[in-house]
Amino acid sequence: MPNRAFDNQPAPADAFPELAARFQQRYEAVRELTETRYLRADWAERNAELEQDLLPVPAADFLRHPAILYQMFVDEHVLPHELPFVRAQLPDDVLLSEDTVGTPPTVALPPNGIQTSSNTVHQLYHLLRYEQETGRRLQNARTIVEWGGGFGSLMRLIFRMHGGSPTCVVIDTPIFSAVQWLYLSAVLGEEDVVLHDSGPVRLVEGRINLVPIGLVSDLSVTADLFISNWALNESTQAAQDDVVSRQWFGAESLLLAMHGHHPLTGIAREWGARTVPLGSFMPGQQYLVA
Ligand SMILES: C[S@@+](CC[C@H](N)C(=O)[O-])C[C@H]1O[C@@H](n2cnc3c(N)ncnc32)[C@H](O)[C@@H]1O
Repeated sequence: MPNRAFDNQPAPADAFPELAARFQQRYEAVRELTETRYLRADWAERNAELEQDLLPVPAADFLRHPAILYQMFVDEHVLPHELPFVRAQLPDDVLLSEDTVGTPPTVALPPNGIQTSSNTVHQLYHLLRYEQETGRRLQNARTIVEWGGGFGSLMRLIFRMHGGSPTCVVIDTPIFSAVQWLYLSAVLGEEDVVLHDSGPVRLVEGRINLVPIGLVSDLSVTADLFISNWALNESTQAAQDDVVSRQWFGAESLLLAMHGHHPLTGIAREWGARTVPLGSFMPGQQYLVA
Protein backbone atom coordinates (compact mmCIF):
# COMPACT_ATOMS: atom_id res chain seq x y z
CA MET A 1 0.00 0.00 0.00
CA PRO A 2 1.48 3.39 -0.91
CA ASN A 3 2.38 5.79 1.87
CA ARG A 4 0.15 8.76 2.41
CA ALA A 5 0.13 11.84 4.54
CA PHE A 6 -2.32 11.98 7.42
CA ASP A 7 -4.14 14.98 8.70
CA ASN A 8 -3.05 14.41 12.28
CA GLN A 9 -3.64 17.71 13.98
CA PRO A 10 -2.04 18.21 17.39
CA ALA A 11 -4.45 17.76 20.29
CA PRO A 12 -5.91 20.99 21.64
CA ALA A 13 -4.45 22.34 24.86
CA ASP A 14 -5.70 20.48 27.93
CA ALA A 15 -9.42 20.94 27.50
CA PHE A 16 -10.37 17.98 29.66
CA PRO A 17 -11.14 19.69 33.02
CA GLU A 18 -13.53 22.19 31.48
CA LEU A 19 -15.26 19.52 29.35
CA ALA A 20 -15.49 17.15 32.33
CA ALA A 21 -17.17 19.91 34.33
CA ARG A 22 -19.90 20.07 31.65
CA PHE A 23 -20.26 16.27 31.32
CA GLN A 24 -23.27 15.95 33.63
CA GLN A 25 -25.18 18.68 31.83
CA ARG A 26 -24.49 17.07 28.44
CA TYR A 27 -25.47 13.66 29.74
CA GLU A 28 -28.72 14.94 31.29
CA ALA A 29 -29.76 16.18 27.84
CA VAL A 30 -29.55 12.66 26.36
CA ARG A 31 -30.15 10.46 29.41
CA GLU A 32 -33.73 9.49 28.46
CA LEU A 33 -32.89 8.91 24.79
CA THR A 34 -32.53 5.18 25.13
CA GLU A 35 -34.32 2.31 23.40
CA THR A 36 -34.86 -0.57 25.76
CA ARG A 37 -35.85 -2.86 22.88
CA TYR A 38 -32.27 -2.56 21.63
CA LEU A 39 -30.39 -3.00 24.90
CA ARG A 40 -29.08 -6.28 26.27
CA ALA A 41 -29.11 -6.76 30.04
CA ASP A 42 -25.29 -6.95 30.33
CA TRP A 43 -24.90 -3.57 28.63
CA ALA A 44 -27.73 -2.05 30.69
CA GLU A 45 -25.77 -3.09 33.78
CA ARG A 46 -22.48 -1.64 32.52
CA ASN A 47 -24.28 1.58 31.60
CA ALA A 48 -25.71 1.89 35.12
CA GLU A 49 -22.25 1.39 36.65
CA LEU A 50 -20.72 3.97 34.35
CA GLU A 51 -23.47 6.47 35.11
CA GLN A 52 -22.98 6.02 38.83
CA ASP A 53 -19.19 6.36 38.66
CA LEU A 54 -18.77 9.11 36.04
CA LEU A 55 -21.27 11.56 37.50
CA PRO A 56 -21.08 14.33 38.40
CA VAL A 57 -17.54 14.83 37.04
CA PRO A 58 -15.63 12.01 35.32
CA ALA A 59 -12.19 11.28 36.78
CA ALA A 60 -9.15 12.09 34.68
CA ASP A 61 -8.52 8.34 34.29
CA PHE A 62 -12.09 7.54 33.16
CA LEU A 63 -10.85 5.14 30.45
CA ARG A 64 -9.78 2.83 33.29
CA HIS A 65 -13.36 2.30 34.40
CA PRO A 66 -14.00 -1.49 34.20
CA ALA A 67 -16.91 -1.02 31.75
CA ILE A 68 -14.42 0.57 29.35
CA LEU A 69 -11.05 -0.96 30.21
CA TYR A 70 -12.09 -4.61 30.15
CA GLN A 71 -14.41 -4.23 27.17
CA MET A 72 -12.26 -2.11 24.88
CA PHE A 73 -8.58 -2.62 25.62
CA VAL A 74 -7.57 -6.01 24.27
CA ASP A 75 -4.95 -7.98 26.14
CA GLU A 76 -1.45 -6.73 25.36
CA HIS A 77 -0.49 -10.19 24.05
CA VAL A 78 -2.46 -9.26 20.90
CA LEU A 79 -0.24 -6.25 20.19
CA PRO A 80 2.86 -8.07 18.81
CA HIS A 81 0.60 -9.87 16.30
CA GLU A 82 -1.05 -6.72 14.98
CA LEU A 83 1.71 -4.12 15.26
CA PRO A 84 3.98 -5.35 12.41
CA PHE A 85 1.06 -5.23 9.94
CA VAL A 86 -0.01 -1.79 11.15
CA ARG A 87 3.53 -0.42 10.93
CA ALA A 88 4.02 -1.91 7.47
CA GLN A 89 0.95 -0.04 6.19
CA LEU A 90 1.63 3.34 7.78
CA PRO A 91 4.20 5.89 6.65
CA ASP A 92 5.30 6.59 10.23
CA ASP A 93 4.27 6.08 13.87
CA VAL A 94 2.26 9.30 14.19
CA LEU A 95 -1.14 7.59 14.32
CA LEU A 96 0.16 5.07 16.84
CA SER A 97 1.01 7.77 19.36
CA GLU A 98 -1.55 7.49 22.14
CA ASP A 99 -3.70 10.41 23.26
CA THR A 100 -3.32 10.92 26.98
CA VAL A 101 -6.98 11.90 27.54
CA GLY A 102 -8.60 9.45 29.98
CA THR A 103 -5.20 8.04 30.99
CA PRO A 104 -5.29 4.85 28.93
CA PRO A 105 -2.77 2.10 29.76
CA THR A 106 0.15 2.48 27.35
CA VAL A 107 3.22 0.56 26.22
CA ALA A 108 6.47 1.93 24.81
CA LEU A 109 7.28 1.00 21.22
CA PRO A 110 10.80 0.21 20.19
CA PRO A 111 12.98 1.75 18.89
CA ASN A 112 11.71 5.29 19.54
CA GLY A 113 9.88 4.71 22.86
CA ILE A 114 6.66 6.22 21.50
CA GLN A 115 3.69 5.43 23.78
CA THR A 116 0.82 3.53 22.20
CA SER A 117 -1.99 1.33 23.55
CA SER A 118 -3.40 -2.09 22.72
CA ASN A 119 -6.63 -0.32 21.79
CA THR A 120 -5.07 2.06 19.30
CA VAL A 121 -3.09 -0.72 17.60
CA HIS A 122 -6.24 -2.91 17.48
CA GLN A 123 -8.41 -0.15 15.96
CA LEU A 124 -5.78 0.74 13.36
CA TYR A 125 -5.49 -2.96 12.53
CA HIS A 126 -9.25 -3.11 11.80
CA LEU A 127 -9.16 -0.09 9.50
CA LEU A 128 -6.05 -1.13 7.61
CA ARG A 129 -7.25 -4.74 7.20
CA TYR A 130 -10.55 -3.35 5.86
CA GLU A 131 -8.66 -1.32 3.28
CA GLN A 132 -6.44 -4.25 2.33
CA GLU A 133 -9.26 -6.80 2.07
CA THR A 134 -11.72 -4.61 0.15
CA GLY A 135 -9.31 -2.54 -1.94
CA ARG A 136 -11.32 0.48 -0.79
CA ARG A 137 -9.87 3.61 0.84
CA LEU A 138 -11.40 5.17 3.91
CA GLN A 139 -10.76 8.59 2.43
CA ASN A 140 -13.27 7.80 -0.34
CA ALA A 141 -16.10 7.34 2.17
CA ARG A 142 -17.89 10.63 2.74
CA THR A 143 -20.48 9.37 5.21
CA ILE A 144 -19.52 6.76 7.78
CA VAL A 145 -21.93 5.27 10.31
CA GLU A 146 -20.68 3.26 13.29
CA TRP A 147 -22.96 1.25 15.59
CA GLY A 148 -21.48 0.89 19.08
CA GLY A 149 -18.39 3.11 19.06
CA GLY A 150 -16.95 2.42 22.51
CA PHE A 151 -15.32 5.56 23.90
CA GLY A 152 -14.81 6.95 20.39
CA SER A 153 -11.40 5.49 19.62
CA LEU A 154 -12.10 4.19 16.11
CA MET A 155 -13.83 7.40 14.98
CA ARG A 156 -10.88 9.44 16.31
CA LEU A 157 -8.56 7.43 14.05
CA ILE A 158 -10.91 7.51 11.05
CA PHE A 159 -11.17 11.28 11.35
CA ARG A 160 -7.37 11.58 11.37
CA MET A 161 -6.74 9.02 8.62
CA HIS A 162 -9.40 10.40 6.34
CA GLY A 163 -7.68 13.69 5.66
CA GLY A 164 -10.92 15.26 4.38
CA SER A 165 -14.10 16.16 6.22
CA PRO A 166 -16.16 12.99 6.45
CA THR A 167 -19.62 13.12 7.96
CA CYS A 168 -19.42 10.60 10.77
CA VAL A 169 -22.25 9.15 12.84
CA VAL A 170 -21.77 7.09 15.99
CA ILE A 171 -24.86 5.38 17.41
CA ASP A 172 -24.64 4.20 21.00
CA THR A 173 -26.38 4.17 24.38
CA PRO A 174 -26.84 7.60 26.03
CA ILE A 175 -24.03 7.22 28.56
CA PHE A 176 -21.60 6.09 25.86
CA SER A 177 -22.69 8.93 23.57
CA ALA A 178 -21.82 11.31 26.43
CA VAL A 179 -18.47 9.56 27.00
CA GLN A 180 -17.74 9.86 23.26
CA TRP A 181 -18.58 13.57 23.42
CA LEU A 182 -16.11 14.02 26.29
CA TYR A 183 -13.30 11.94 24.77
CA LEU A 184 -13.56 13.16 21.18
CA SER A 185 -14.00 16.80 22.21
CA ALA A 186 -10.89 16.59 24.41
CA VAL A 187 -8.83 14.82 21.74
CA LEU A 188 -9.97 16.49 18.51
CA GLY A 189 -11.62 19.69 19.69
CA GLU A 190 -15.25 20.28 20.65
CA GLU A 191 -16.01 22.00 17.34
CA ASP A 192 -15.64 18.66 15.52
CA VAL A 193 -18.21 16.88 17.71
CA VAL A 194 -22.00 17.18 17.82
CA LEU A 195 -24.03 15.41 20.52
CA HIS A 196 -27.61 15.16 19.26
CA ASP A 197 -30.29 15.48 21.93
CA SER A 198 -33.54 15.81 19.96
CA GLY A 199 -35.18 14.55 16.82
CA PRO A 200 -35.37 14.74 13.92
CA VAL A 201 -31.61 14.34 13.87
CA ARG A 202 -30.08 16.93 11.57
CA LEU A 203 -26.60 15.64 10.81
CA VAL A 204 -23.85 18.23 10.63
CA GLU A 205 -21.65 17.58 7.61
CA GLY A 206 -17.94 17.11 8.18
CA ARG A 207 -18.37 16.47 11.91
CA ILE A 208 -18.66 13.51 14.23
CA ASN A 209 -22.38 13.25 15.02
CA LEU A 210 -23.15 11.31 18.19
CA VAL A 211 -26.63 9.78 18.14
CA PRO A 212 -28.09 8.06 21.23
CA ILE A 213 -30.09 4.91 20.35
CA GLY A 214 -33.37 6.57 21.32
CA LEU A 215 -33.00 8.82 18.27
CA VAL A 216 -32.29 6.09 15.70
CA SER A 217 -35.87 6.12 14.43
CA ASP A 218 -35.47 9.92 13.95
CA LEU A 219 -32.23 9.56 12.00
CA SER A 220 -32.19 9.72 8.25
CA VAL A 221 -28.80 8.96 6.70
CA THR A 222 -27.34 7.23 3.68
CA ALA A 223 -23.95 5.83 4.56
CA ASP A 224 -21.06 5.00 2.26
CA LEU A 225 -19.58 2.75 4.94
CA PHE A 226 -21.27 1.04 7.90
CA ILE A 227 -19.06 -0.23 10.74
CA SER A 228 -19.92 -2.26 13.80
CA ASN A 229 -17.16 -4.06 15.65
CA TRP A 230 -18.33 -6.34 18.48
CA ALA A 231 -21.39 -4.11 18.98
CA LEU A 232 -24.37 -4.97 16.76
CA ASN A 233 -23.88 -8.59 17.80
CA GLU A 234 -23.95 -7.35 21.43
CA SER A 235 -27.27 -5.55 20.83
CA THR A 236 -30.65 -7.28 20.85
CA GLN A 237 -32.27 -9.14 17.99
CA ALA A 238 -34.66 -6.16 17.55
CA ALA A 239 -31.68 -3.83 17.00
CA GLN A 240 -30.10 -6.23 14.52
CA ASP A 241 -33.41 -6.63 12.67
CA ASP A 242 -33.87 -2.85 12.39
CA VAL A 243 -30.33 -2.28 11.10
CA VAL A 244 -30.65 -5.10 8.56
CA SER A 245 -34.07 -3.87 7.41
CA ARG A 246 -32.52 -0.41 6.93
CA GLN A 247 -29.89 -2.13 4.77
CA TRP A 248 -27.01 -1.08 7.06
CA PHE A 249 -28.20 2.55 6.76
CA GLY A 250 -27.98 2.32 2.99
CA ALA A 251 -24.26 1.61 3.05
CA GLU A 252 -22.47 0.25 0.01
CA SER A 253 -19.52 -0.95 2.08
CA LEU A 254 -19.35 -2.87 5.35
CA LEU A 255 -16.89 -3.52 8.15
CA LEU A 256 -18.29 -5.79 10.85
CA ALA A 257 -16.38 -7.73 13.49
CA MET A 258 -17.77 -10.48 15.73
CA HIS A 259 -17.32 -14.13 16.62
CA GLY A 260 -17.70 -16.55 13.75
CA HIS A 261 -20.93 -18.30 14.66
CA HIS A 262 -23.15 -15.26 15.00
CA PRO A 263 -26.34 -15.33 12.85
CA LEU A 264 -25.46 -11.90 11.41
CA THR A 265 -22.70 -13.72 9.51
CA GLY A 266 -25.17 -15.43 7.18
CA ILE A 267 -27.19 -12.24 6.71
CA ALA A 268 -24.13 -10.13 5.89
CA ARG A 269 -22.78 -12.80 3.52
CA GLU A 270 -26.10 -13.02 1.72
CA TRP A 271 -25.95 -9.24 1.35
CA GLY A 272 -22.53 -9.58 -0.30
CA ALA A 273 -19.98 -9.40 2.51
CA ARG A 274 -16.96 -11.70 2.73
CA THR A 275 -15.72 -13.44 5.87
CA VAL A 276 -12.11 -12.74 6.83
CA PRO A 277 -10.56 -14.23 10.00
CA LEU A 278 -8.83 -11.70 12.26
CA GLY A 279 -5.89 -14.06 12.67
CA SER A 280 -4.78 -17.11 14.68
CA PHE A 281 -4.07 -14.83 17.67
CA MET A 282 -7.84 -14.23 18.02
CA PRO A 283 -9.35 -17.63 17.29
CA GLY A 284 -13.00 -17.65 16.23
CA GLN A 285 -13.13 -13.89 15.60
CA GLN A 286 -13.87 -12.61 12.11
CA TYR A 287 -14.47 -9.55 9.99
CA LEU A 288 -17.29 -9.31 7.50
CA VAL A 289 -16.25 -6.88 4.80
CA ALA A 290 -17.70 -5.60 1.57
C1 LIG B 1 -17.61 -4.45 23.16
S1 LIG B 1 -17.91 -2.75 22.93
C2 LIG B 1 -17.08 -2.50 21.39
C3 LIG B 1 -16.69 -1.07 21.21
C4 LIG B 1 -15.89 -0.78 19.94
N1 LIG B 1 -16.67 -1.05 18.75
C5 LIG B 1 -14.61 -1.58 19.94
O1 LIG B 1 -14.45 -2.45 19.07
O2 LIG B 1 -13.76 -1.33 20.81
C6 LIG B 1 -19.62 -2.69 22.49
C7 LIG B 1 -20.13 -1.31 22.10
O3 LIG B 1 -21.50 -1.44 21.70
C8 LIG B 1 -22.27 -0.51 22.44
N2 LIG B 1 -23.64 -1.02 22.58
C9 LIG B 1 -24.11 -1.97 23.42
N3 LIG B 1 -25.42 -2.14 23.25
C10 LIG B 1 -25.80 -1.29 22.25
C11 LIG B 1 -27.03 -1.01 21.61
N4 LIG B 1 -28.14 -1.64 21.95
N5 LIG B 1 -27.05 -0.08 20.65
C12 LIG B 1 -25.90 0.58 20.28
N6 LIG B 1 -24.71 0.35 20.86
C13 LIG B 1 -24.65 -0.58 21.82
C14 LIG B 1 -21.54 -0.36 23.75
O4 LIG B 1 -21.94 0.79 24.45
C15 LIG B 1 -20.11 -0.31 23.23
O5 LIG B 1 -19.82 0.97 22.73
